[in-house]
Amino acid sequence: MTLAAYAKINLYLRVVGRRPDGYHEIETLFHSIRLADTLSFDAAPAGQLLFECDDPAVPTDESNLVCRAAAALRAAAGGEAGARIRLAKRIPMGAGLGGGSSDAAATLVGLCRLWGLSLDASTLHALAAGLGSDVPFFLRGGAALASGRGELITPLPDAPPLALVLVSPPFEVSTPWAYRAWRSVPDGPSASACREALACGDLEALAAALRNDLEAGVVATHPELETIRQRLLAAGALGARMTGSGSTLFALARDAAHARRIAAAVSDLPGTVRVTETVPAGEAGLLAGKVL
Ligand code: C5P
Repeated sequence: MTLAAYAKINLYLRVVGRRPDGYHEIETLFHSIRLADTLSFDAAPAGQLLFECDDPAVPTDESNLVCRAAAALRAAAGGEAGARIRLAKRIPMGAGLGGGSSDAAATLVGLCRLWGLSLDASTLHALAAGLGSDVPFFLRGGAALASGRGELITPLPDAPPLALVLVSPPFEVSTPWAYRAWRSVPDGPSASACREALACGDLEALAAALRNDLEAGVVATHPELETIRQRLLAAGALGARMTGSGSTLFALARDAAHARRIAAAVSDLPGTVRVTETVPAGEAGLLAGKVL
């Protein structure tokens, strides 16, 4: 059985403040995008959890969220079921695109099917939240508001698709580091402005409502990100922001042809430039039942 694990961008990310548990309270608007990893799940002898990846740069030990997700699910279900998991890695790591989290969510759903488990939604959500703050989002995908540390999800209805350009520079950003680099941002657009602009497909309003409070702290150490952002805007992007804790920036385009023109204009930038688009929950959601 093979599942697609879609990436996400944060169209909006406001950091409300630091919490006593060391996390930060946030208000964010996630959206699935078409860039995806694929994971395949096969039976293996009892007790064996085997994990392989086509990218040698990806760790395949317990530091990988896929292994942690498999171990957590097996512990929750009891028993010694085995599995062989193979990951085709396409989403860059340390990029703010949620690749590791999406892989973890896909592992929970894929192994539930392989092992014939029928966990209720709240158990699955709790397992996901235990693996990482943005793992629960990927169970449903599409567009969603999130609060808390990012794990409290309010699904949003499908919105008109957005044409996007992603620029992933050739370095990774660590999420804990990006949060430590955060400094309070004076003021900015509201999440409801972003949500409403997305819902009605008002691209100018959406561009004005894009927000990422982690960006300034990351840019202070990596000023080239601001240079990339300015290049995207000069190439005609309606708006451009960092996604999550970086290092990828996304640019909002009018349509796919416009996105391709922007991508061509910035193709000399170091790293990887991609044209992509948002994907609705029915397509991206792991619980939507879509098996490749
Ligand atoms: O939840 P996750 O494992 O993805 O978080 C990684 C790290 O990022 C946390 O240990 C914390 O340092 C930081 N973080 C945070 N506030 C959040 C999410 C993550 O401070 N809302």
